Amino acid sequence: MKTVAVVGTQWGDEGKGKIVDLLAADADVIVRFQGGNNAAHTLVVDGEKFVLRLVPAGALHPNKTCVIGNGTVVDPIALIAEIDDLKKRRGLRGDFLKLSYEAHIVFPYHRAIDRMREARAGKRAIGTTGFGIGPAYEDKMSRAGLRFDDLVNFKSFADKLKRTVADKNAYLKAVLKGKPISATEILEAMRRVRRRLMPYLCDTGEFLAEAIAAGKRILFEGAHGTMLDIDHGTYPFVTSSNCIASAAFGGTGLGPGTLEAVLGISKAYTTRVGAGPFPTEIKGWLADALREEGVEFGSATGRPRRIGWFDAVLARFAARVNGMWALALTKLDVLTGIDPIRICVAYQYKGKRYETMPPGRHAMETAKPIFEEMPGWTEAIGEARSLGQLPANARAYIERIGELAGIPIAIVSVGADRAATIVVTNPFA
Ligand code: IMP
Repeated sequence: MKTVAVVGTQWGDEGKGKIVDLLAADADVIVRFQGGNNAAHTLVVDGEKFVLRLVPAGALHPNKTCVIGNGTVVDPIALIAEIDDLKKRRGLRGDFLKLSYEAHIVFPYHRAIDRMREARAGKRAIGTTGFGIGPAYEDKMSRAGLRFDDLVNFKSFADKLKRTVADKNAYLKAVLKGKPISATEILEAMRRVRRRLMPYLCDTGEFLAEAIAAGKRILFEGAHGTMLDIDHGTYPFVTSSNCIASAAFGGTGLGPGTLEAVLGISKAYTTRVGAGPFPTEIKGWLADALREEGVEFGSATGRPRRIGWFDAVLARFAARVNGMWALALTKLDVLTGIDPIRICVAYQYKGKRYETMPPGRHAMETAKPIFEEMPGWTEAIGEARSLGQLPANARAYIERIGELAGIPIAIVSVGADRAATIVVTNPFA
């Protein structure tokens, strides 16, 4: 296959960065199509850790082209810092990155509004990353946003920005009781942004269409996860973009026929950060132990992640909404020593058993998981490079997950390093 999308099937943090980095070895172009620097894709290459928030996780391979598509919202200061860090540590080609003219810019007022709204919401807070993602997408949809193509003519950009800042300040002051933002300071910073980022600006839709026509391999890198999708996730405890595979089309300027396979990524258990329903959540010492073992602290914000058992209802739901071809199971090694291991096979809701998501996402707030138990294993599995090298109970666990999700398991990750992976089927092979 030549065009493959990687998407999260849970609430983000499934280990997409590692899988994208792994598959990027066989791709020519790696493209982000939604989200912003609220994503944090962690990769460990030769023992060295990288956290990529905006630059696609293909950047750690030489001679790949990374694309940030029109469906993203980009904090330009964060992007420049990331490019500089990558250049310093990896010595990238000058033209390794293409940034869509149509991507929306995240400004300091978006961050200020995000944080102040969360503070004001108190107990009703969503637990956002505070990076201004929701307010930036809001401006995009209400047609008040500024895009990178606005930067081409700086004079008209400055006029638009000043008008926007005046509106935002009125809102910040009157509603959020906050301090005003200085348009002059933003404009000064944006002069540097313009100088630094103009060379990367590109008609990325056209670039991708030409790459596909030339037979290049394209990897679409989803951010966040299906349950954080603005339409299909646990609304309102979601992010502000569509995170499912179909967002790859609107978010790049390509049509549905251009995608050959969708690989869903799932942890061998479940985590989520921020508030919202989480039917299989574990509380107490076991959650603490798994959090420590799996280093389950947000890469974007450092917040401790909530921990739960694998949820097959979510997996089946994700398989449907993403049209998944296969599943990649990550962090299997974290479950070593846990016995028994529980899998949620269905939900109990209003006296009825549901194998699929109960109607109305609010049902998840009260749905009770129905668990099945499987025996664990105690052997270290970090060195396994084929399914046959895993303990029988670990193999049985993987098989059961595949059976419950209704799709094959293509990849199993047994450690943070790129090499600590069992590739059953490589979608690019
Ligand atoms: P926002 O995307 O910053 O607006 O945050 C909305 C919700 O999505 C919060 O619960 C965040 O913790 C969550 N979220 C956003 N991006 C990610 C991610 O990449 N991993 C995990 N959670 C995320």
